[in-house]
Amino acid sequence: MSKSSAVKAAPAQSKGPAGKSDPFVLDMEKIRASARQHMDDGSVTSTYGADKEVVLKLLNDSLATEIVCTLRYKRHYFMAKGIHSEAVASEFAQHATEEQEHADTIAERIVQLGGEPNFAPDSLASRAHSEYKEGANLIDMIRENLIAERIAIDTYAEIIRYLGEKDVTTRRIFETILAVEEEHADDMADLLDGLDG
Ligand SMILES: [Fe+2]
Ligand SMILES: [Fe+2]
Repeated sequence: MSKSSAVKAAPAQSKGPAGKSDPFVLDMEKIRASARQHMDDGSVTSTYGADKEVVLKLLNDSLATEIVCTLRYKRHYFMAKGIHSEAVASEFAQHATEEQEHADTIAERIVQLGGEPNFAPDSLASRAHSEYKEGANLIDMIRENLIAERIAIDTYAEIIRYLGEKDVTTRRIFETILAVEEEHADDMADLLDGLDG
């Protein structure tokens, strides 16, 4: 079958059983033309309702946050392991892995939106919402992580409110990440309770 006959066959499928035109048939020609015209924009179509530059900035700052969180949990994992706090160490290790996954998801979304993920190490700490705090002992480390998680939770909740219906895909990404950060905060609070008690 040639390409042109495949295109011609399409309108026939849009007729209902009585042969009447379906009023909800999309203008495929127009959508295809627009898709081709905006090919450089990646997956972002003309129906994208957000300010892309703002969203990319929010995503890149969040990427920096996730990288800093990964590094902090990694540091804490090795330090806790060194002082034979295996249970706490394995919790830190799991969180490090999940923060890394968040970073990857965010970087992927940045590229989908036609942006570039910023992995520049020099400016990471200043761009991140959360801080890289080493922590003097086990309780200190857990406290620092809890603080960082709370900052991430507040920031992501704010970003989700901003995105609203303007960029639903990015909003869903942040909602999924937010749920994990809430679990992280719970985990740290539980560890603190266990060690304080
Ligand atoms: Fe995270
Ligand atoms: Fe987290």
